[in-house]
Amino acid sequence: MKKILITGGAGFIGSHVVRRFVKNYPSYEIVNLDKLTYAGNLANLTDIENEANYRFVKEDITDANAMSELFKKENFDAVIHLAAESHVDRSITDPTAFVMTNVIGTVNLLNAAREHWKGQYDQKRFYHVSTDEVYGALGEEGMFTETTAYDPHSPYSASKASSDHFVRAYHDTYGMDCVISNCSNNYGSHHFPEKLIPLAINNIKNNKPVPVYGKGENVRDWLWVEDHARAIDVIFHQSKTGDTYNIGGHNEWKNIDLIHLLCEIMDEKLGREKGESAKLITYVTDRAGHDLRYAIDSTKLQKQLDWVPSLQFEEGLAKTVDWYLQNEAWLNNVTSGNYQSYYDKQYSEK
Ligand code: NAD
Ligand code: TYD
Repeated sequence: MKKILITGGAGFIGSHVVRRFVKNYPSYEIVNLDKLTYAGNLANLTDIENEANYRFVKEDITDANAMSELFKKENFDAVIHLAAESHVDRSITDPTAFVMTNVIGTVNLLNAAREHWKGQYDQKRFYHVSTDEVYGALGEEGMFTETTAYDPHSPYSASKASSDHFVRAYHDTYGMDCVISNCSNNYGSHHFPEKLIPLAINNIKNNKPVPVYGKGENVRDWLWVEDHARAIDVIFHQSKTGDTYNIGGHNEWKNIDLIHLLCEIMDEKLGREKGESAKLITYVTDRAGHDLRYAIDSTKLQKQLDWVPSLQFEEGLAKTVDWYLQNEAWLNNVTSGNYQSYYDKQYSEK
């Protein structure tokens, strides 16, 4: 019997982690804490919302008192912390929101755990979910390992790097049981359509231009979101205290090649003539400080904890497209409201 606080569980990756834990561990009590920002959506969890071992709490991790009160009341056994501002482009427009949630919010959770778990640190676990972007950008060669020095470039990655340092500091200073994983770019269902893959799917579907930053030569290493959730499960249950794991799919794609593959899949699924969707590709002004390449070496996770990615990218991307085409109501719902004004502002400047 475990009571686990999962933060950010209404977001993209968090909803897959919540679903996995609720379904696979009926004896655990899963408390999903989320502020429900533009990226948080309870419709991501309708299939499990009535399960007996699941509860939702609407809270803001930047509220230190609320975090302390919650830890006092609930006596959690563990935290899996995913709540974050997660979009690099938004971090370029408004860095302070990233400092508040990603740095201060993480420190608030660490403080609440430190205070209320005193004397029991060996029985409690704080698992922090982070990104490969903390390592900075690679050239044509090499991969990030767990010992690569941190070198963040965007306000987003700088805030995540800072939060990672705080988590390690609480382990080293107070002896708390902290674990961190750094994952590459995720893709799959329930991904908010401001990020590249769901944005492109939505635009291709609606015959709108598909914006490719710069020359489309930047490389990302894509992982199926359910493989990330499974890695988190394995690391949460099996990792040593204070340990770090890189998670990635050995699946590097240049943005422009990925978009071409997506266009081919969409042509087929939408019954369009071959090459029709690719006509929508539009090169736009590059992102400021755009990291050239990310690539994760996940050998440690594969060897020590026997985790391997389950899906080939082509198969995963086709499944992702199917999900978006079959879940039109979800897509229409998240693209109503403020989405259009964000989109117009972001892309009119490019
Ligand atoms: P997301 O933006 O889809 O979801 C973030 C969730 O956090 C949302 O539900 C949002 O409402 C919630 N949230 C934001 N601010 C909050 C606050 N102040 N208090 C409480 N809740 C708040 O993000 P995601 O893509 O699911 O990423 C989840 C985590 O995984 C993040 O920590 C991110 O840095 C990390 N990560 C993401 C990727 C990726 O490819 N998306 C890759 C590696 C690591
Ligand atoms: P994104 O999905 O924002 O993830 P991240 O910046 O965390 O890697 O972007 C993935 C890649 O796609 C990145 O190199 C930026 C690029 N990109 C575009 O070319 N056009 C777009 O409209 C977006 C949102 C991203």
